[in-house]
Amino acid sequence: MKRQIEVLVGYLKYNFKAQSKYRVHSPFVFDFYKNILKNDQSYPQYRLVNKYRKELISQSRFIKRKDLGSRAKSYAYDQRFVRVKDIARRSSVSVKNGEFLYRLTQKYQPTNILELGTSLGISTMYFALAVPQGHVFTIEGCIDSANLAKANFDHYGLKNITLITGNFNDKLASVLHQMPSVDLVFFDGNHKKEPTLSYFEQCLQHIHPDTVFIFDDIHWSSEMHEAWNIICKDPRIKVSIDLFQMGIVFFKEELSQENFRLRF
Ligand SMILES: C[S@@+](CC[C@H](N)C(=O)[O-])C[C@H]1O[C@@H](n2cnc3c(N)ncnc32)[C@H](O)[C@@H]1O
Repeated sequence: MKRQIEVLVGYLKYNFKAQSKYRVHSPFVFDFYKNILKNDQSYPQYRLVNKYRKELISQSRFIKRKDLGSRAKSYAYDQRFVRVKDIARRSSVSVKNGEFLYRLTQKYQPTNILELGTSLGISTMYFALAVPQGHVFTIEGCIDSANLAKANFDHYGLKNITLITGNFNDKLASVLHQMPSVDLVFFDGNHKKEPTLSYFEQCLQHIHPDTVFIFDDIHWSSEMHEAWNIICKDPRIKVSIDLFQMGIVFFKEELSQENFRLRF
């Protein structure tokens, strides 16, 4: 209940302060708003991910769930065995946000993408389809979820994904070193303040000016809200964009330092 109230208050604040395109003066952010956020073009790749999502949602079988992140304590389905369809419904990126990730990736063309939190691989699929010549490195701590995701990446012929199983705390440093470049990072697991800031700090050591960071669930709890506020104030970042569900961070040197809240 406390978390729901925090989310509601966060949403009201966001909604009150969110900007429309008429108040965005940065050409870079205006382009982001017009061509990524509000681009309603339908791409054929969306259909493939929707097909996979439907397949998962039709599966009533149970898999063994091991959640190393904060969600473990908050859902009724936090039990040893969970239906595939419940994970697909509750843990995966929504259609709206997944399609946004696809457009963002397609627009900025990152060569190497890192995802923290594969789950069943729905967001991974959006990334992999958006940059077929690129590569997605994705880390997942729940073995059964990872196995299911991997089987489906193979089934859909997605060869540009490397799935690493294990705890982010143990795997992140070596994956970052293994990646030829770190062009986009999607932080979507372990939604607690200190781990999020620690992963942020580790990833920062590998960025270049065109790297993009995307944080999911930035207002999911007061801890995530605090983490996001700290990230926005970090002098190494140039532009942050709060979309309520997700927060986007850019490091481009030519941008002036500014924090935006955009209506999505
Ligand atoms: C919200 S889900 C990811 C959803 C996925 N990105 C999607 O949209 O389809 C978060 C995942 O992160 C994993 N996770 C959380 N904390 C972790 C940790 N410390 N190490 C490894 N995996 C972790 C959980 O097991 C869970 O599957």
